[in-house]
Parts: sequence; structure tokens; C-alpha cells
Amino acid sequence: MPEKLICSAAITSTGDPMGRLVELCGTDKMGEGEMKPFDIEGVQIMLVKHEGNLFAVDRVCTHADADLSDGFLSGDGVVCPLHLSAFNLADGSPTNPPATKPIKTYNVKIHNNKVFVEV
Ligand code: FES
Repeated sequence: MPEKLICSAAITSTGDPMGRLVELCGTDKMGEGEMKPFDIEGVQIMLVKHEGNLFAVDRVCTHADADLSDGFLSGDGVVCPLHLSAFNLADGSPTNPPATKPIKTYNVKIHNNKVFVEV
């Protein structure tokens, strides 16, 4: 199995007390259906392009710690590779058992053809 590439992210200070914007990648780096893992100061997230929209969510499943970026996308959102719970990418809620707790979602912003996440 090929080693998974975890991208590092550049921290950008915005002076915004609500959160910091972290640059993830260029918009041209995200194709439809792609899930890219990022580590931001120990927080494991993934950027997902699904049905034309970009989402940033935690990538650790709330059921038993599987890496959701190893899963796949369906109409319900991202599907965990271990026990197949799906999570809605917009609000993080699980749509089927065994997971019962939502994953965290993050605001995504596009500026100058770059993708930022608010952490
Ligand atoms: S680890 Fe994800 S559903 Fe069990």
C-alpha cells in the first residue's frame, strides 16, 4: 500500500479574533471527489470536493478513530472505511450507525484561487 501523503499547511494570521485562516492548497489542486488529508498543529482534517463544493472536516471517525480520508464518498457524504458510517460533510452529522457523534466541520474560504480553512 502506498504511503499516504499528509500535507502541511501554512498558518496565516488574519487578526480575526474568531479564528485563523490556514492556507491549504490552490483551488486547482482539488478535483471532484478528492479527499486530501492535512495536519494543522496536531489537528487532523481533510479537504473534500464533493458535488462541486469544498468542505473541510475532521478526518478521525468519532466511532473508533479510523481515518476518514481512507474512506469514500457517497450521496450521504464521506463513508468511514472501517464500519461504514457516513457523515454529512456540511454539518458533520452521522447518517447511519454505528457512529453517533458528529465530526467537526470548518469554514472554507476561497481567496486568490487558494483554499483556506478557518481554525
Ligand atoms: S470507525 Fe468509523 S464507523 Fe467505526
